[in-house]
Amino acid sequence: MAASAPERSKRSPFIVELYRSALGKKYVMAITGIVGLGYVLAHMIGNLKLYQSAADFNLYAETLRELLYPIAPEGLVLNLLRGVLILALVGHVVAAWQLTLMNRRARPESYRSKRDYVAADFAARTMRWTGVIVLLFIFYHLADLTWAVTPLHEADFTVYDRVIASFSNPASAGFYILANLALGFHLYHGVWSLFQSMGWNNRRFNHWRRTLAIAFTVVVVGGNLSFVISVLTGVIS
Ligand code: HEM
Repeated sequence: MAASAPERSKRSPFIVELYRSALGKKYVMAITGIVGLGYVLAHMIGNLKLYQSAADFNLYAETLRELLYPIAPEGLVLNLLRGVLILALVGHVVAAWQLTLMNRRARPESYRSKRDYVAADFAARTMRWTGVIVLLFIFYHLADLTWAVTPLHEADFTVYDRVIASFSNPASAGFYILANLALGFHLYHGVWSLFQSMGWNNRRFNHWRRTLAIAFTVVVVGGNLSFVISVLTGVIS
């Protein structure tokens, strides 16, 4: 009895113990992934205003800053949402990094069978790389459209002007297209595997899982690519 007391005091809270396990890290990947999925879908739907008019799009961007104003101070809700997004992004990247290290320790490169490698599809095998491309894209995208610090923008540009300037430039548009293709592979495998991580993986529903993963990816990436292509081809100007 007396010997078990110090042992018990060494145990961390349940949530910390859970996070230490691979399962806990997978939960973090799945939950933070869901936040990211919600964001990219909402962001794409909001950006459809580009097809309405410059004024509508700029008003939409302004409205986001004034969410719940004057009930809450101007910008507060947007900044809270930004905080949630940043936490989710950091949590997703850290858990992915730690899971990779755990997997490497458990199964060094030389023991990995060729069959496993072939069995995993392209999207699954490239998760880390597509994740890195999306992460680099987010930094470029913020510098480009939120902070407008890239050489493409003038001081008096509205948010709409920034989108047009960025997507009219072949190098910038090319990077948006490449990053969205990487996002597509990442989303497809992410939606698919989040069911696995959460334990919702009854074989009978695999067909629905795949359909949902494809539909979600096509809607988000299709919408995003359509904005870039519409500006490049002059449909939006
Ligand atoms: C090609 C499609 C996209 C368009 C047209 C677009 C447009 C924009 C614009 C105009 C802003 C600045 C809003 C403002 O400052 O008022 C913005 C911000 C942002 N975008 Fe995108 N975006 C696209 C794709 C993406 C993707 C794929 C992601 C994520 C992977 C993303 C993540 C973000 C983030 C995190 C912000 C900052 C939001 C904030 O803090 O206010 N965007 N986007």
